[in-house]
Amino acid sequence: MIAIIVGVFLVCLGLALILIKKKAKPQAGISGGGLTAEAQAELDKKNQPVKPVEGAIPLESLQAPSNFPSEVVFYFGSQTGTAEKFCQTLDEELQKIKGVQTTRVIDFEEFKPEVFTKHPLIIFCVATHYEGDPCDNTKKAFRWIRDQRKIKDEKPCQGMKYTVFGLGDTSYEQYNTIGKLFNEALEELGGERIYRYGEGNAEGNKTEDDFNEWRKYLWKELMEYYDKNQTQEEKQITLDRKQSIVNEEVLADPNVVKEVQYPLVADYIEEESTFEQDAGTQYEMASKQFITAKDIPIKYIKQLRQNLDEGSTLEISYDLNDSGLSYKTAANLALFPQNDISDVVLCAERLKIDINKKFILKTNPNSSKKGSIKHPFPTPATVQQALQDYIDLKGKVGKKTLKDLSNHATDTSEKENSLKYPNEVRIAISLTEDEVQIDGQKVKKMGLTSAYVKKIAEQNLDFSQTRITNKIFIKDSLFKQPSDYSAIPIIMVGPGTGVVPFIGFMEERDMLKKANPDMILEKAQLYFGCRKNNSDFIYKDEILDYKERQIISDTQLAFSRESVGSRCYVQDLMKQNKDHVIKVLTEDKGNIYLCGNTKMGLEVQNILKEFLGEETYKKLESDKRLVKELWG
Ligand SMILES: Cc1cc2nc3c(=O)[nH]c(=O)nc-3n(C[C@H](O)[C@H](O)[C@H](O)COP(=O)(O)O)c2cc1C
Repeated sequence: MIAIIVGVFLVCLGLALILIKKKAKPQAGISGGGLTAEAQAELDKKNQPVKPVEGAIPLESLQAPSNFPSEVVFYFGSQTGTAEKFCQTLDEELQKIKGVQTTRVIDFEEFKPEVFTKHPLIIFCVATHYEGDPCDNTKKAFRWIRDQRKIKDEKPCQGMKYTVFGLGDTSYEQYNTIGKLFNEALEELGGERIYRYGEGNAEGNKTEDDFNEWRKYLWKELMEYYDKNQTQEEKQITLDRKQSIVNEEVLADPNVVKEVQYPLVADYIEEESTFEQDAGTQYEMASKQFITAKDIPIKYIKQLRQNLDEGSTLEISYDLNDSGLSYKTAANLALFPQNDISDVVLCAERLKIDINKKFILKTNPNSSKKGSIKHPFPTPATVQQALQDYIDLKGKVGKKTLKDLSNHATDTSEKENSLKYPNEVRIAISLTEDEVQIDGQKVKKMGLTSAYVKKIAEQNLDFSQTRITNKIFIKDSLFKQPSDYSAIPIIMVGPGTGVVPFIGFMEERDMLKKANPDMILEKAQLYFGCRKNNSDFIYKDEILDYKERQIISDTQLAFSRESVGSRCYVQDLMKQNKDHVIKVLTEDKGNIYLCGNTKMGLEVQNILKEFLGEETYKKLESDKRLVKELWG
C-alpha cells in the first residue's frame, strides 16, 4: 500500500546540479574557400591532429608485417568524450604506418557480441564513471562480459588480441575499475593481451600525459609481436613489400612536401544555400548530446547566497511547458554554454575569418581515412556558430562535473504522472573562478559555463517578457530514496551544492506527509556544510523550515569559516555523532547518501569504514544502502 502511495505522491522538485559540458572541439581542418594564408596557417597549427609522443619511434619508420590484421578496431567506453578522442588519436596514428589496411573507431553503444568476438585485434580505451560503473555506452558490453565470465570454460574471445587503456580518477574510491575489469576479463574469455595495460588518472589533469606515456611503444611492440609470429611465407611477403616501398620512396620527388590531409574539410557555401548533410551523417559523442539537447526558456534566475562577498550560487528555473522534456526526481541536467560574443569576435579577428561566413564539413577525398567519418559538430554552420557553440574559448573549464540524482521508481508510469512540478526543472550552479597566469600575472578567470550563466543573470531580465533559452538535456540517475519512508531512516551528507538532491528528497517527504497527516516519517538526518551561516548557506530557509516541521528529524550544520581558528566540516560532525550513525546503518538498516566533492566523499567513506569495519561497510555498499554522487 505504501509503495503505491509513494508512487502517487512522488514529488519531483528536479533540483539537479549542473553538468558542465565542455563542447566538442573541432578536429577537422578548415581549408580553402578564401581563408588568408595566415589564417590557414593558424588553423593548421591549431588542428594538428596528433602530437608525436616524445621518445617514441617515428611512425614513418615502421612497417606492418604481412600477418598484421587487415582490420584493427578501437572500442571506446566514454561518458564525456576523452576515451573517444584517444581512440581517434590512435586510429590516426596507426593509419600512418606503412602496410596498415583498415582501421575503425567503434562506439561501445554499437556492441554486438557476434561481431565483437570476431575482431582479430582490438585496442580499448574505457573510462570508469558512476562510482566504479561503466559509462552509459559501455553498459551492454559490460553485462555481456559479466555473463560470459559466469559460464565456466567459455572462451568466446579466443583468437582475439587486445590491449586496454583505462581512464579514471584516483579521487574516486573505485579507481579505474572498468579498465581493470576489461583487461582481466578479456584474457579470461580467451583473448591475448599483446601490449601492457595502461591507466590514465584525471586527478591533477594527468590523463593525457599518462596516455602519451602508455602509447610510446605501442606501435613498435605490436609490430614486433606480429613480426616474430610470421611464417616463412609471410616473412617473404613482408620483405617484398618493404622493397617496393623503398623503390617508391626513391622514385618520389623530394621537393614535394606531403600536405597533412584531414579526414574532413570545410567548404564555404552561400548564405542562402539550403544544403543539408546526409541523414546518415555520424557525429562524435559530445556532439550527439548537443544535437539532441533542446532550447528551453528560462523562467527565473535567483541568487541562493545571503552574502556575495565570497562567491555566488544561482538557481535557474527552466520552463518545460510544450518542450517535450520530462524528468524524474533529482534527474541529471546538462547545460551547453556558449562563448561570449566578444571572445568569438576576438578569435575570428586573430584568425582573419569572417564570422558571418557559412560553411559545411565534408569528407576529404585525399584523406587516407576510409569509411564513415564522424563529424565533430553539425554543419552547415556559420563561423560564428562554430566558434561560439563548439569550442571552449575560455580554456580549461576544469573537471567536468556530472551529477546524477535520480529516483528509480518501481513503476515508471505512476512516477511520471505524479510530478509536482512537471513543467519546471531547476538547477543550482556555484559560479567558480580559477587563478591563471597571464603575462606573468595571476588573474582570476571564470570557466565557460559560469561566465555564460553570470552574464545572463547580470542582465536582470524579466523572463516572462524576454524569452531567453539555454540548450539543455535531462537524464536519469541512480539517486533514490527508500520507498518506505515510515520504516527506513536516512542520513544525507551534502555540503555546498551537494545539498541540492536532498532538497528534492525533503520536498518528497513534505508532500507525502501533507497527503497522509497521520503518517510517521522515519528519522532523516541532514549534514550540511558551508563557509558561513549568513553567507553561503544555500536553501537555508527551506532547510530550517523542514526541520521545524519535522519533515527531517535533525540538521547538523558545519561552518568552516564562521570564526577564526575553528573550522568545522561535515566529517567532524559525523564523528561527533558516531553512535547515531552506527545505529542507523546497522541496527535500523538505514540508508546513507553522499553528495559533493570527492575529497569530502572519500573522507566520509573512511569515517564510515572506521565506524562500521571493512566488512559491514562493503555490505552497505553492495546492498546499495550507501549511495554516492561525487565529483572532482
Ligand atoms: C561523475 C563522475 C564520476 C566518476 N567516477 C569515477 C570512478 O568511480 N572511478 C574512476 O576511476 N574515475 C571516475 N571518474 C573519472 C573519469 O573516469 C575520468 O574523468 C575520465 O577521464 C573520463 O573519461 P571520458 O571523458 O571518456 O568519459 C568520474 C568522473 C565523473 C565526472
